[in-house]
Amino acid sequence: MCGIVGYIGHREAYPIILKGLKRLEYRGYDSAGIAIYDGNTIKLSKTKGKVEDLEKCVLDEISTNGKLGIGHTRWATHGVPNNVNSHPHYSNSGDLVIIHNGIIENYESLKKELVKRGYSFHSETDTEVLINLIEDVRNNENVKLGKAVQIALNQVVGAYAIAVFDKTKPDEIVVARLGSPLAIGIGDKEFFIASDATPFLEYTKNAIYLEDEEMAVVRLEKGIKIRKIKDDSLVDPYIQELQLNLEQIEKGGYEHFMLKEIYEQPNAILDTFRGRLSVEQAIIKMAGIEDNMKRFLNADRIIIVACGTSWHAGLVAEYIFEDLARIPVEVEYASEFRYRNPVIKENDIVIAISQSGETADTLAAIKLAKSKGAFVFGVCNVVGSSIARATNAGAYTHAGPEIGVASTKAFTTQITVLSLIALRLSRAKGTISSTDYRMHLIELEMIPKKVENALKSDENIKAIAAIYKEASNCLYLGRGYNFPVALEGALKLKEISYIHAEGYPAAEMKHGPIALIDENMPIVVIATKKGHYEKVVSNIQEIKSRKGKIIAIVTEGDETVKSIADHTIEVPETLESLSPLLTTIPLQLLSYYIAVMLGKNVDQPRNLAKSVTVE
Ligand code: F6R
Repeated sequence: MCGIVGYIGHREAYPIILKGLKRLEYRGYDSAGIAIYDGNTIKLSKTKGKVEDLEKCVLDEISTNGKLGIGHTRWATHGVPNNVNSHPHYSNSGDLVIIHNGIIENYESLKKELVKRGYSFHSETDTEVLINLIEDVRNNENVKLGKAVQIALNQVVGAYAIAVFDKTKPDEIVVARLGSPLAIGIGDKEFFIASDATPFLEYTKNAIYLEDEEMAVVRLEKGIKIRKIKDDSLVDPYIQELQLNLEQIEKGGYEHFMLKEIYEQPNAILDTFRGRLSVEQAIIKMAGIEDNMKRFLNADRIIIVACGTSWHAGLVAEYIFEDLARIPVEVEYASEFRYRNPVIKENDIVIAISQSGETADTLAAIKLAKSKGAFVFGVCNVVGSSIARATNAGAYTHAGPEIGVASTKAFTTQITVLSLIALRLSRAKGTISSTDYRMHLIELEMIPKKVENALKSDENIKAIAAIYKEASNCLYLGRGYNFPVALEGALKLKEISYIHAEGYPAAEMKHGPIALIDENMPIVVIATKKGHYEKVVSNIQEIKSRKGKIIAIVTEGDETVKSIADHTIEVPETLESLSPLLTTIPLQLLSYYIAVMLGKNVDQPRNLAKSVTVE
């Protein structure tokens, strides 16, 4: 869960690596470092803090002189974030230098062996063990760097994306991956290494994504040689043309990526159903579903595995699949599922949901499900990600890059894809009437416009945020389809404003949480017209009589709730099953404005990282 960048070519490496690290800060931002070969020796600067802190303390000679280099932005796993534990790490001789994203699980036993052989260690990291292991192999077996990396990695248990170079042979970088992503950008007599393609977008559109258990020796003159780490077999490089563009990964005038991504939702949702939904022909077409229709039609059960916000999207999907397609659904935290001994039957389908496509627990859950014979369908945003590749089939969300750590457009586009799937299956199974089906398609097509309208409450939400920004606790309540939205709203507030928040099914309140309510407790209630409206109104009355402060998300024109609640935020009317796509919007904005008003780092909240590639 770190970002790595490397460069070898004819340009100054420093600015390329620095800018690349800034783009990868979503992966971790508690320390950063850079190492540049200046034609003679390696110059290394690293520090606790963000890439901007690194920029301030970087050695002068690094910034101007060197066409080979590597850089790292860290999310600490082994060793606290400090200058010493930051990457890159030298080997004992000072010849080799490494950056690493991942965890070497057996590092302690490897370290003991290396200490016996005279190696010393300056940091608490597993990475310093790996670079000395590579050095030890290189010296003892008298092999080139590439071979030494390969032999060392065959002794390692864990996950990694690494880049290593040797100052005595400064015409190559050796890279390898297992469980953490690694892309190689191919330019004109230059190569770029990165955790994803964003650091090299302005230089090349051609990239190779290494597969798990592959390594590559990237040579300035001779190009790239890829092989399997285990059996040494050569792999034909598959060069992909990148579809990303720079605009998509920049803030485009917004103060934060999170706000930009909230505002991108109308287009993101449109992109999600573009080419898949035709209201005119009353069809939904998704290759991953059509190709596996028989399997889906025979499914006795769907098991959804995911984490965090994606898990909340899975909960929404449970309602949609059961409601429309009449398929029983279970939604599992991937981190729990992977360590149970789940019962998976022949006709079960596992759906894995992940924005990044790199979440370690979700990936492990997929592997477990596959080992039990399950067919696994992926719903991912990042094209070519590990989860997209590990699943048997899938559908991308096409949300575009999500850089703010708090997930926003990923959630709504995941729900869109899952709604499309549920609708397609319900039609094929005959569990929905043609009128209802058509109505759903028409409503779905109108969702982008309605999200745009929901975004118009921005100023109202800002005013509410100003009133409640000092709250220490907050409750979020919803029922039915909007119960998962309540969970998601609470998660958003927690992660970016650090205010304690909990989501509850509104009716569960009286079984405990109601005791928390007093005049200091803000309670966000989703009280839209369709679905349990009267019941939710009763819940609101219960809160009111205990003096709780009510912020209600209501359907446009609602007067009943307006007369009871302290504040209301309107969203356009839609079908109950699609309402999460609208009710989520004000909750995202509310958290955003509270966090901004509290002066928090909205895009990079403390202790978090965008893709959680560790367990
Ligand atoms: C919350 C958030 C996380 C992620 C979770 C899963 O805003 O971003 O809870 O949803 O880490 O990540 P993906 O979807 O990449 O598997």
